[in-house]
Amino acid sequence: MKFRSCVFCLCLLLLIGTAFAASKDEPVLEKKVAELLSKMTLEEKIGQMTQVAIDVVSVPNQPVGGYHKLDPQKLRAAILKYHVGSILNVMGAAYTVENWHEIISQIQDVATKESRLGIPILYGIDSIHGANYVQDATIFPQNLGMAATWNEELMKRNGAITAYETRAAGIPWNFNPVLDIGRQPLWPRLFETFGEDPYLASIMGVAYVKGQEGDDNDISRPDKVAACMKHYIGYSLPYTGKDRTPAYIPERLLWEVCVPSFKAAIDAGVHTVMINSSEINGIPVHSSRYYLTELLRYELGFKGLVVSDWQDIMNLYTREKIANSHKEAVKMSVMAGIDMSMVPLDFSFYDHLLALAKEGSVPIARIDEAVSRILKVKFELGLFEKPYPNKKLKEKFASEDFRWAARQAAQESITLLKNADGLLPIAKGKRILVAGPTANRLSALNGGWTITWQGNDEKLYPKNRLTILQALEQKFGKESVAYVEGAAFAEEVNVAEAAAAAKNADVAIVCLGEEAYCETPGNITDLTLNEAQLKLAEAIHAAGAPVVLVLAQGRPRIINRIVDDAQAILLAYLPGHEGGLAIADIIAGDVNPSGKLPITYPRFVNDFTLYDHKNSENDDYHKNYHPQFPFGFGLSYTTFAYSNLVLNQDTLSNGEELQVQVTVSNSGQRAGKEVVQLYLSDLVASVTPANKRLKRFEKIELAPGESKTVAFTLNESDLTFIGRDNKPVAESGEFKVAIGGLSRQFVFVQKNVTDSGYSSNGR
Ligand code: BGC
Repeated sequence: MKFRSCVFCLCLLLLIGTAFAASKDEPVLEKKVAELLSKMTLEEKIGQMTQVAIDVVSVPNQPVGGYHKLDPQKLRAAILKYHVGSILNVMGAAYTVENWHEIISQIQDVATKESRLGIPILYGIDSIHGANYVQDATIFPQNLGMAATWNEELMKRNGAITAYETRAAGIPWNFNPVLDIGRQPLWPRLFETFGEDPYLASIMGVAYVKGQEGDDNDISRPDKVAACMKHYIGYSLPYTGKDRTPAYIPERLLWEVCVPSFKAAIDAGVHTVMINSSEINGIPVHSSRYYLTELLRYELGFKGLVVSDWQDIMNLYTREKIANSHKEAVKMSVMAGIDMSMVPLDFSFYDHLLALAKEGSVPIARIDEAVSRILKVKFELGLFEKPYPNKKLKEKFASEDFRWAARQAAQESITLLKNADGLLPIAKGKRILVAGPTANRLSALNGGWTITWQGNDEKLYPKNRLTILQALEQKFGKESVAYVEGAAFAEEVNVAEAAAAAKNADVAIVCLGEEAYCETPGNITDLTLNEAQLKLAEAIHAAGAPVVLVLAQGRPRIINRIVDDAQAILLAYLPGHEGGLAIADIIAGDVNPSGKLPITYPRFVNDFTLYDHKNSENDDYHKNYHPQFPFGFGLSYTTFAYSNLVLNQDTLSNGEELQVQVTVSNSGQRAGKEVVQLYLSDLVASVTPANKRLKRFEKIELAPGESKTVAFTLNESDLTFIGRDNKPVAESGEFKVAIGGLSRQFVFVQKNVTDSGYSSNGR
């Protein structure tokens, strides 16, 4: 008894001690930053705000895929003459862990041993779906696929493994998660988003940040990195669908759709943010004090480091035409709130900012503020004590365990959109024809940000990862699988031969989709899947073989012409290196599909009505909502039944909670996972309400015949929208809760607060 109470006291003391230490941390850190700052010259400070690409310090024209070499003279110039604080990116293609170690060590040698103050370099990289610029790394599905898992734990694990492997290469800063909301299907970066819903994106974004930085955001841990949420804000809604073109975003949409995922990540402690390359309502975000300081810092409470996107300060002059010179652009963006400029191919930012500071056009106080934020992240990452790569991390790099997590993520992302007459799964022993451009290309399973920026250099892909074809051969036996490509991405190859082969097959697996792309090069003018691919599917169907369509693509290409021809449809998104195996697992029935669409899959090219559309977009007269497949949709090899949707009370007031319960049963023959989705509808509101909005979800697993009761809690904040006065409001009135085809209503009573009202001057 005594011993136990002693242990208890000790624990208590330790707890108090830790809490005390934690609360003291911040002032200690600030003191360190201030001390260092006080020793720095103006040149050294401005250098910290300068980020250059690795190209600037490398031997030029090196063979892509070779052992990368820095140029020691250029490196010294960057660090010792220009005092740069940060370097980024990969030049050419992914390097080995050892090559990265040499690169980072060489950089830190100069920075910490040869520079006057020994300030380490903050190296940054785009580890977008795994450490994709490190050879042999574990590669996960792209974010859109991760969102289709609706599995927070897997998302967090992706974040943690990606952090581990990025740090294993010696890189402590990752430009991910992308928290832009994917509501423009043409946009070539849709696959980098968590889809169209702000709530789902917030949950996934937070899980990723916590995976990357740790639950307590202690990024000094050797296997954690500083995460960088991007691209703040409004980047994903270009009016035309083309990358880096204008968005028009009314304040209400900004708050209801664009803000929540960034706000959630800020509340989760994310350390850094990257800015939207483009403009909102005519204002380039890089030039906007409103977006970068007032909204980001004062309203949303962000305290970390703001980095520009690629060349986007210069772009204010050269592309956006809102500055008369590059120098003016530098002044605008720094005064608006940019702390670090991704210049990235020269030292022009440094020269201009130095001149501006010397002539007094940019106050030293603003420079000190920016540099303090940069130094703080460097201290928090532990770079001053440990600037070099930690070789111990090689141990678990690309381990079986990590690879398995990526395979599970791919399995849970794949979404079964159609399965007429239970064509899937396919039994062993059937004669299978495999066709189509995505069947035998790893690049088609990965997309951009894989090995190279565009991800489309097939010959650089590892030989030990399986394409869909190879995985099917492994699963079903080579003797059961025939392969005829039929069509490349945009042209017919041997469609007639594929159709002829289909006559001898019990089933045809037609693998269609997109060639890898990234950013602006991925712009398209027509969302329809390429003609050659549609023809291939039609020809194979006409030959009489039942068709399983497998779609590997970054955005929902229009397939209405072949949907009826296909007896089964699997949407794989961009499932990563383990995608081939995961698709084969599902086709063979070793895994029961559980992915659900994180986007609305449009049926027509001009029909982008989203799931949370207004009531007028789908009333009896307009009937405007006819997606090919709706948001949240996805089939399973088993069936689920929903019953007993119960609310604990039929009224709710501010300050109270509403408990919602529903019972879900596996009514089929196989174990399966189901995503229980709770939607809320505000039946009457002073601003036209969405027909419904996702408010909660939970992914559960049920054995055949098993039932589970799932409980959710709602409160006033779930009923809140942006009112006529552009302020958040929850109005009294009726609401509907819907889960799995069941619904219940309740009344919200707002006590002691006046509604925003129907004022005639509302915006
Ligand atoms: C992209 C960013 C990326 C940066 C650095 C830019 O072109 O927009 O998402 O982080 O390049 O590679």
